Amino acid sequence: MFDDSGANVFGLDIDESSLRQVASLRSARYFPVNCDLGVKSSIEEAFRQVADILARVHAEHPSVSDSVDILINNAGIVYNGTVEAHSADALERTFAINTVSHFYTVQAVLGEMKRKNSGHIVTIASAGGLVGTPGMSAYSASKFAAIGFEEALRGEIKASGKQIYTTLVAPYYINTGMFDGVRTRFSWLLPILDQQVVSRRIFNAIQKRKKRLIMPRFVYLVFPLRLLPVGLFDWLSDFFGITRSMNHFKGRPKG
Ligand SMILES: NC(=O)c1ccc[n+]([C@@H]2O[C@H](COP(=O)([O-])OP(=O)(O)OC[C@H]3O[C@@H](n4cnc5c(N)ncnc54)[C@H](O)[C@@H]3O)[C@@H](O)[C@H]2O)c1
Repeated sequence: MFDDSGANVFGLDIDESSLRQVASLRSARYFPVNCDLGVKSSIEEAFRQVADILARVHAEHPSVSDSVDILINNAGIVYNGTVEAHSADALERTFAINTVSHFYTVQAVLGEMKRKNSGHIVTIASAGGLVGTPGMSAYSASKFAAIGFEEALRGEIKASGKQIYTTLVAPYYINTGMFDGVRTRFSWLLPILDQQVVSRRIFNAIQKRKKRLIMPRFVYLVFPLRLLPVGLFDWLSDFFGITRSMNHFKGRPKG
């Protein structure tokens, strides 16, 4: 994370233990803020708290930024099951957290970034937002949507002429626990990624202001492969084990 540079780090999360976990990893100026990113009013309240804390810290240390310089939209949830099995609640929560929250968090910070003519917005999407994956249709659809959101935002920022950077991150499966049980057929091409390596690569991408980070590299092939006839593309998805990757999904234990 970013506190090595003396930055203020805010973690917005619904889960106290996740907030505490980050607190135990960080040394300097970490502020946990309880927030349900699936609920607009909760996001607004969280950003009010962020603004208050930043104003206080800035008053004590004027060299410290008084607004959000880097926004990372990272929270995400997944429900498994077929399209038919997804409940209304699962659909609404998935889209609210994985996609719609990005609008509200960006709305909370973009005005000030524009005023300062600086800032960076990071969208953590997924390779599941590049290839529709059976067994996680709502997740895939919400991540396709997050990628569309990011592309539109990038265009709007460019049109505004402001020096605000964006980074789209789309990783294949990572060993964080969110996708426990998933399987990959060719692990030398499509490995289950290591969370430490992924975070380091995201950090580097932000530092280098890379517009897009897709992991592993093999996933970049999805773009040219999309030019193939649909049947052939689907056959390749099957061959590489993507269509069956969720068959043994366990995810995080519930409760
Ligand atoms: N793990 C993977 O295989 C994988 C692959 C590609 C992309 N991603 C994406 O990376 C991001 C991080 O995932 P992760 O693997 O670290 O999963 P994770 O479950 O470890 O972390 C997700 C975090 O989001 C928080 N969260 C969930 N619902 C929330 C809500 N309503 N409000 C606030 N916070 C909420 C959780 O408490 C948790 O701390 C997600 O967007 C995920 O979709 C993960």
